[in-house]
Amino acid sequence: MKLSDNKATLSFTDGSPAIELPIYQGTIGPDVIDIRKLYGQTGMFTYDPGFLSTAATASGITYIDGDKGELLYRGYPIEQLAVNCDYLDTCYLILNGDLPNVEQKKEFDTQVTRHTMVNEQMNFFLRGFRRDAHPMAVLTGLVGALSAFYHDSTDITNPQHRYISAIRLIAKMPTLVSMAYKYSRGEPTIFPKNDLSYTGNFLRMMFANPCEDYQVNEVVERALDRIFILHADHEQNASTSTVRLCGSSGTNPFAAIASGVACLWGPAHGGANEACLHMLEQIQANGGLATVGKFMEQVKDKNSGVRLMGFGHRVYKNYDPRAKLMQETCKEVLSALGLENDPLLKLAMALEKIALEDDYFVQRKLYPNVDFYSGIVQRAIGIPTSLFTGIFALARTTGWIAQWAEMIADPEYKIGRPRQLYTGETVRQVKR
Ligand code: ACO
Repeated sequence: MKLSDNKATLSFTDGSPAIELPIYQGTIGPDVIDIRKLYGQTGMFTYDPGFLSTAATASGITYIDGDKGELLYRGYPIEQLAVNCDYLDTCYLILNGDLPNVEQKKEFDTQVTRHTMVNEQMNFFLRGFRRDAHPMAVLTGLVGALSAFYHDSTDITNPQHRYISAIRLIAKMPTLVSMAYKYSRGEPTIFPKNDLSYTGNFLRMMFANPCEDYQVNEVVERALDRIFILHADHEQNASTSTVRLCGSSGTNPFAAIASGVACLWGPAHGGANEACLHMLEQIQANGGLATVGKFMEQVKDKNSGVRLMGFGHRVYKNYDPRAKLMQETCKEVLSALGLENDPLLKLAMALEKIALEDDYFVQRKLYPNVDFYSGIVQRAIGIPTSLFTGIFALARTTGWIAQWAEMIADPEYKIGRPRQLYTGETVRQVKR
């Protein structure tokens, strides 16, 4: 980051002296006012619940321009990556800063492929869960449990260890997600198969059984790979910030990523795709297209507590570029699987049309986010609703681990420790 010639002056109406604050510039996007010395100079903190105006870190991985609806991974527009690259290209890019050449790609694919198996002991841990446990509960546990198996890659001060943990996490997430799924169905776990692509292998671990051959459907493989690319990173969102904060204590990467999985679970974040599909199913059950208008009235009524899931975003105040790509994929997959008349797709498109023309949404700049269509695609592929957020976690692991590694390698890195405005009791004495 570059120090700007410009400075900010903070003055006070109570006669306290004004102070000057340095301003830093990134390569694109808003400048930041450096308030690190504010407390030392004034005895005051800043107050910003929800981080509406606070940059908690400098980062060179992902850039979002929410007004333009632009998303860049390491400078490359998401639209170009989604069309020209596969998920492992994207992982390499996010982790290493550049797209791989042919040799680098081959080596990276091999490294990931060779780390897909998990220790057999993990199965005993898995069996401790009830069969009806939510897959995100299982995943939070399984990812955290990896730290008990891979002591040889948990020295966070060693860049080689950091890299191996990154490869291990990216490689093992599909295995863990499929284990959670198979376990919920009482089916045997399918081992990874090294001659398949990352995504083809995941599909096989999900849907094959030991008694029959399994043929990967190329359209489905491409669609799921695109879902992975679109979810690979998204700068300092809630789960990524959670991973950074958790990892800032020096804990091992597997524990830090488990905290990200837990955060992603919430319906305002990764859980929105599951919530969005439930919403569509509920509208369908209540009368379908004919009732869409009534549902939208509820959404606009503040007292109803109903939100249009898959709509709105803290950063995008324009169409989420991932939503456009996802809508395209959605149509492709449904048509390839002969499901183009899917009533939920029709409902989603009708809701989107109404929302994009309705003053309530226009004024608040609420547009579809990536989750609006991803649930329909996943459902068509055969992924159960309860696993949608697990798929998101699988894909986002790359972003989490890259952001964690960036933080650990940053000379300015410190344990994260927000301050507060205390509003509780003042000192009082225990009287008994
Ligand atoms: N439906 C109806 N109204 C909405 C919606 C929605 N989906 N989203 C926001 N609004 C309204 C709010 O009621 C509020 O109105 P007001 O100004 O009259 O009070 C205004 O728009 C601003 O909303 P906030 O909640 O203040 O915006 P914030 O940036 O805090 O929230 C969030 C963003 C959580 C994503 C929100 O839009 C939401 O709940 N959306 C539905 C859940 C969802 O799809 N989440 C996925 C996020 S993307 C992801 O994690 C991959």
